[in-house]
Amino acid sequence: MRSSRFLMACRREPVDVTPVWLMRQAGRYMPEYRTIRARHSMLDAIRTPELACEITLQPVNVFAVDAAIIFADILPILIGMGLDLDFVKGEGPAISNPVRSPADVDALRMPPTEENLPYTLEAIRLVRRELDGRVPLIGFAGAPFTLASYAIEGGGSKHHVRTKSFMHAEPDAWHRLMDKLATVLGEYLVAQVQAGAQALQVFDSWAGVLSPADYRAFVLPYTQHVIERARSTGVPVIYFGTDLNGMLPLVRKTGADVFGLDWRIGIDDAWHQLGEDIAIQGNLDPVTLLAPWPEIRRGIDDVLMRVAGRPGHIFNLGHGILPETPVDNVRRLVDYVHTWGTGEKSDG
Ligand code: CP3
Repeated sequence: MRSSRFLMACRREPVDVTPVWLMRQAGRYMPEYRTIRARHSMLDAIRTPELACEITLQPVNVFAVDAAIIFADILPILIGMGLDLDFVKGEGPAISNPVRSPADVDALRMPPTEENLPYTLEAIRLVRRELDGRVPLIGFAGAPFTLASYAIEGGGSKHHVRTKSFMHAEPDAWHRLMDKLATVLGEYLVAQVQAGAQALQVFDSWAGVLSPADYRAFVLPYTQHVIERARSTGVPVIYFGTDLNGMLPLVRKTGADVFGLDWRIGIDDAWHQLGEDIAIQGNLDPVTLLAPWPEIRRGIDDVLMRVAGRPGHIFNLGHGILPETPVDNVRRLVDYVHTWGTGEKSDG
């Protein structure tokens, strides 16, 4: 049953118990992950299919999670497009030649996925073989806006001033940039399904910095294109973003099968606004996982009580798991979600 309840919930079919996985479930909070990262850089780990495969399987082997997500990142796709990306210890991603002018946009290359990201496609094939049907494998990509933001800012950003200024000052170049990204990202997602991914998630982590009007005019058509390409493969597509709760009707227009919800809104309220005919993944505050167990349990109860037995709920955090999260709290969360409403006791 573990092998299918995640995909069934994505399609809003009834399931035995609520499926659960966690964004960034392979990461620094796990000692096994830190051991590998002590010997290999982030980019090396992503570019070595055997290492990416091993890291992908770490949480699946330790916890009863209902899905695996391929170990990769949203940013390496920019390398083949001509940007110099590195992950700087303690600082996060850094691009030394960011996109700052219309000419920079026109210089971006659009290599086919097999050429740009062969290592991730190979990692997907390896993971499918190793999983042998235990749980489905999720592939993913960034959404055009979130990638445009990194390409223009050159790294993380608080106010996304350069991104928004480029959008408003150079609308033609902005649309050409988004068009290029949407094409490359759509192809990447399709290639991941051809390699064996059984569901796809599109991460739009920073789209919530936009006004609804700007999102609609400058972003939505490209998100729609990527999700349409992804859905053409027949696998369920999850659209995740944070701070989008003021524009849920626009989120609905992306066409995703599942919306990944942050914790800043009650899941019942979000469902009401999105419409009951979409699945929702979420939405526990990741910081809750640092609390004592009774507080974590209260947070899980609150989410599941608001879901109130609706079909189409996948339990997850509202954003990625934090590096300081105790491993034992993750184990207790996964087990508790699986016994919720069954009359069985799992209090850790
Ligand atoms: O979820 C998973 O387990 C799969 C792997 C995954 C990673 N990044 C690995 C990673 C996924 C799905 C991502 C997506 C990603 N990457 C997003 C979207 C989701 C989100 O968190 O909003 C974004 C914005 C990125 C870009 C990125 N990658 C940043 C900003 C950073 C640095 C911040 C940090 O947490 O250190 C990364 C690095 C990164 N990607 C790590 C991992 C496990 C940590 C790097 C390390 O091991 O040192």
